[in-house]
Amino acid sequence: MMLVIPDLLDSASLAHIRTALADAAWQDGRATAGYIARGQKTNQQLAPGSALAQTLGQPILDALAQHPLFISFALPLKTLSPMFNRYMGGGEYGFHIDNALRIDPVSGQRIRADISTTVFLNDPDDYDGGELIIQDSYGTQQVKLPAGHAVVYPGNSLHKVTPVTRGERLASFFWSQSMIQDDSLRGILFELDQSIQQLALREENLAEVTRLSGSYHNLLRRFGDV
Ligand code: NI
Repeated sequence: MMLVIPDLLDSASLAHIRTALADAAWQDGRATAGYIARGQKTNQQLAPGSALAQTLGQPILDALAQHPLFISFALPLKTLSPMFNRYMGGGEYGFHIDNALRIDPVSGQRIRADISTTVFLNDPDDYDGGELIIQDSYGTQQVKLPAGHAVVYPGNSLHKVTPVTRGERLASFFWSQSMIQDDSLRGILFELDQSIQQLALREENLAEVTRLSGSYHNLLRRFGDV
């Protein structure tokens, strides 16, 4: 299951990030690819954990930390420092599955990459190609979103970025460890939480909503890592 978060970043934040990225020192993206994926990756990245990546990543982490839909969907325990990439001149990243374990370049903390997030930083009209193709249990999804939108998807999915044949594609990407390791259980909890919230909106102070909400939290207590 994947989730689109519209307008995670506003136009002022996006303009600020794009201006900074235009002058940034980009490096070969293969530096952070695993041994097997390296041969199919032709993009550029900011050095992970660099001062610029940290500065630009903080507003993204702040926006996610208070986003109810992201929290409900990802149930995040830890989120890695955001990374930034650029595809241009036919650059692409063939089908791969991301490494399961990641070390945060800033804190040195190790996380299990349960959830992947990509935030699109420039508009789809700026470039041709650059679709994020995700294969998951719901079939193949093709994702190319307006600037500021994010897609959140399971870290265990096979995915690729198609060649960018005109213009450049800028994105931020990072991984989160979820309180719920199992993808299908996390999906059930998301559906349950969303349904409870819809019910609560429909009628105030419903005793059943209180009980359902209690059950949701008891499931989280029972199965969640902290
Ligand atoms: Ni990947």
